[in-house]
Amino acid sequence: MTTAHRKILVTSALPYANGPIHIGHLVEYIQTDIWARFQKMRGHACWYVCADDAHGTPIMLRARQEGIEPEELIARVHQEHTADFAGFHIGFDNYHSTHSEENRHFAITIYERNRDAGHIVKRTITQAYDPVEEMFLPDRFIKGECPKCGAPDQYGDNCEVCGASYSPAELKNPRSAVSGAVPVQKASEHYFFKLADFEPMLREWTRAGHLQPEVTHKLDEWFEAGLQAWDISRDAPYFGFEIPDHPGKYFYVWLDAPIGYMASFRNLCDRRGDLDFDEYWGPDADTELYHFIGKDIIYFHALFWPAMLHGAGFRTPSAVWAHGFLTVDGQKMSKSRGTFIKARTYLDHLNPEYLRYYFAAKLGSGVEDIDLNLEDFAQRVNADLVGKVVNIASRCAGFIHKRFGSRLAPALAEPALFEAFAAAGDTIADHYEQREFSHAVRAIMALADRANQYIDEAKPWVIAKEEGKEEELQAICSMGINLFRVLIGYLRPILPATAAASETFLQVPPLTWEALASPLLDHEIRKFKPLMTRVDSKQIEAMLEASKEDLAAAAPAPRSTGPLAGDPIAETIEYADFAKVDLRIARIVRAEHVEGADKLLRLTLDLGGETRNVFAGIKSAYAPEDLEGRLTVMVANLAPRKMRFGVSEGMVLAAGPGGEELYLLSPDAGARPGMRVK
Ligand code: MSP
Ligand code: ZN
Repeated sequence: MTTAHRKILVTSALPYANGPIHIGHLVEYIQTDIWARFQKMRGHACWYVCADDAHGTPIMLRARQEGIEPEELIARVHQEHTADFAGFHIGFDNYHSTHSEENRHFAITIYERNRDAGHIVKRTITQAYDPVEEMFLPDRFIKGECPKCGAPDQYGDNCEVCGASYSPAELKNPRSAVSGAVPVQKASEHYFFKLADFEPMLREWTRAGHLQPEVTHKLDEWFEAGLQAWDISRDAPYFGFEIPDHPGKYFYVWLDAPIGYMASFRNLCDRRGDLDFDEYWGPDADTELYHFIGKDIIYFHALFWPAMLHGAGFRTPSAVWAHGFLTVDGQKMSKSRGTFIKARTYLDHLNPEYLRYYFAAKLGSGVEDIDLNLEDFAQRVNADLVGKVVNIASRCAGFIHKRFGSRLAPALAEPALFEAFAAAGDTIADHYEQREFSHAVRAIMALADRANQYIDEAKPWVIAKEEGKEEELQAICSMGINLFRVLIGYLRPILPATAAASETFLQVPPLTWEALASPLLDHEIRKFKPLMTRVDSKQIEAMLEASKEDLAAAAPAPRSTGPLAGDPIAETIEYADFAKVDLRIARIVRAEHVEGADKLLRLTLDLGGETRNVFAGIKSAYAPEDLEGRLTVMVANLAPRKMRFGVSEGMVLAAGPGGEELYLLSPDAGARPGMRVK
């Protein structure tokens, strides 16, 4: 294995700026972070950069729905994402945005160089267009009835009810998901990147060891299917970079997204002043460049990206490494099961290093999906980290502190055992290097078992009671502490916070891989503080509950085209549309707290003879006792909605932004339950 000083640039895919980070994303950021931290610990120059992917139609529409400018939305999400990543100890050297001047510069450069080399062509294509919003509609913004089973309200190109896939043109009664208008077909000029120009280069590149074997294999199928020209432009309105020579046309989000890797690194170079951009991106760069990605975005990274770079005279990546998708308890993450867990919700309940460790214990170099089995998660963290690793330090530190003035012995009790621990470092490093983290974890835990066995056999608690065995006791406990130090050093890429706390306890500078080979002798340590606590299954339960509740509380966001800041007037509807809504006066006969729900109250409503059970997200504004007996207005013909706490049979009406600022509607005196509101 090479120990020469390497220069490495590492990236993770750029998360979209329209939603929160969830534990599925974290597979990737944790995987990349462990690898980058490992390289740094080995003494290499390793830079880990990322950014928010801030462009595209969904982000533009999301901002509109919230009644804010896209810039405001992406600034807020940037803060949320960076806070979530920091919470999981993801140690980016830079976290930038694709909506940045650096990115505009490189997007234009790459486009122009490819254009000048003849790799861009113009074609007129026909697409679905929303005549009300005056915008072209991406597939996922067209809704209609499934052509196979007739299920209403199906998006784009596949049916969530029967699983059929089809083209958006086949949807029955198609509607724009933005305005509800019937889409029309409209022609427009688009710019295409001629991927086929790069076929010889790509055929070679994809087989030259830059990809995992199974990915190369997948690409062979794509080559067989033929490389199609790639549509890199979108018409206004769009949130992105305008194409310089084509006003009103924008770069498609996926054109400038990977360029965001360069932009983030450029920004890092400018912030630091001691890095040479061209050394990492220039055509002759001999540094290493690695992209960690999910298996869903291989096409972009293994075909378009190297081709675009090559066409523009930049270096191509040393490797693109894809990982699989996360399942929870064997199934796709699900909002109704509470397993669609946001990074923030996890952090509210559990230590981030549990998840880092669990993912590491499951991750290999391949593209297989990985499963978070919650029972196994708790069991493994408790048995391995708390029961084996941290326990070694706590078994030995007390004696060192009480009996030897916190000083470690001048010599090791079992030098051969320490040597064996040190010698294991090469294999473990190799596993990290190859992204076989599960192998690294297994090797480290085998060492932890040996360390515990050593202490079991040396029995310091027995020696401590015997007279004249001071030296032996100190040597045994110092041996234990030294074994612990090597173990936590090997785990440091996975457990940066526990490693940092251990460095404080040991009074040593940040551990390097090299330093682990020599023992810590005749050295004063600090008093031991518990380094990690056990996972309690109650915490997991609470996290799942909170994840379900996020869902219950998520009211559909108002859509907007109008002028009212924050909550603009919705689009004009016909009277017939309004008349479909059956509003009734209702009396709240009972209001109760719902066990386990932060935001909901259960209301029993009397509609003048008929009783309804409704869950309302008004708990932060009203106490149940203030509601009982009063009249309000409800939507009486809303389809019943199954919630975690029961079925909600309608909805009460309230004004205001939500939270504590919420005002339930009341009729004037004289109105009676059951009267229709028209
Ligand atoms: N914005 C694009 C990437 C542009 S890179 C130039 C994107 N964003 S994403 O937010 O949808 O996903 C970011 C990364 O997280 C992707 O690599 C994706 O594969 C990964 N994951 C998203 N959900 C995941 C799971 N459930 N499981 C594992 N990884 C997942 O794609
Ligand atoms: Zn269907």
